[in-house]
Amino acid sequence: KFPSKVKLVDVGPRDGLQNEKEPVPAAVKIELVHRLQDAGLTEIEVTSFVSPKWVPQMADNAEVMAGIRRKPGVRYSVLTPNMKGFEAAVASKPDEIVVFGAASEAFSQRNINCSIAESMERFAPVVQAARAQGIFVRGAISVAVGCPYQGEVDPQGVELVARLMKEIGVQHCGVADTIGVGTPRKVQAAMEAALRHYAIDDLSGHFHDTYGQALVNTMACLELGIWQYDSSVAGLGGCPYAKGATGNVATEDVVYMLRGMEIDTGIDLDKLIDAGKYISDYLGRKPNSRAATAILNK
Ligand code: HMG
Ligand code: MG
Repeated sequence: KFPSKVKLVDVGPRDGLQNEKEPVPAAVKIELVHRLQDAGLTEIEVTSFVSPKWVPQMADNAEVMAGIRRKPGVRYSVLTPNMKGFEAAVASKPDEIVVFGAASEAFSQRNINCSIAESMERFAPVVQAARAQGIFVRGAISVAVGCPYQGEVDPQGVELVARLMKEIGVQHCGVADTIGVGTPRKVQAAMEAALRHYAIDDLSGHFHDTYGQALVNTMACLELGIWQYDSSVAGLGGCPYAKGATGNVATEDVVYMLRGMEIDTGIDLDKLIDAGKYISDYLGRKPNSRAATAILNK
């Protein structure tokens, strides 16, 4: 019933670090990427090509991309909200780009400074240019189950954005619970809405863990057969335009759960915990992962 293997995309270097107040040196970000790939991650969301005025922590995007020792079989993805971002990103040779929209008008305005309809106009040429160059295009739908400005978001909001993304040629749809308010049935309903436009193999879940629901929401999606998830090493992160929202579900916790369920991720949990400890030590805090904490305290 459950998928026999799961692909995890570690978004720690991007989603995890974008909200850090103090600049994290590019060398530390690069080392984190290296440790993640050594732990067996096959896709890493490295950085974003957004306005440095909006997200200063990602201003070293090109430097970080240039510094990575690329490992064969690993995909490196970056966020590109518009042509300016895409053009800057191309020189860094990403394997994949991410355009990010929202299921609520209010969040779209706060995060990317335009309406949902305008966002699609901005994404369309990005998608076209990326695909023409053989770069895979992923789309993210933020606030898929709840919005910090609008409140409840219904599945029709997700369905609309999934449809619009499909129409402009976005190849993969990531359904995101930006502020971690979702619970299993709501998350399943959001996924089912996206499934009306995307096949199960082209869909992923991105769950922030603000309310401690991310793991159970992952389980609810496994029940639907969804086998791709974003997660963040050491549970790092939060979105600068979603006040109070905490990090993504910790990669360590997801790997621990899946290992116990005999679902293959190809990830070495001990090496992953070391990667999480490396970045947590740098930031001067404990890893925000229950599994990592338990194993480190043994
Ligand atoms: P804008 O102000 O509407 O853009 O910003 P604009 O085209 O009017 O340009 C204004 C200025 O920004 C100009 O500079 C542009 O050159 C510059 P000026 O002439 O004033 O000096 N600019 C850029 N600079 C660098 N890179 C670019 C770029 N574009 C314009 N790509 C924009 C629109 C989207 C750029 C802005 O709103 C922005 O950067 N927002 C930040 C969005 C962001 O990074 N959010 C966090 C990531 S999304 C997320 O975390 C959610 C996710 O994890 C899923 C989930 O959990 O929900 C993916
Ligand atoms: Mg996120």
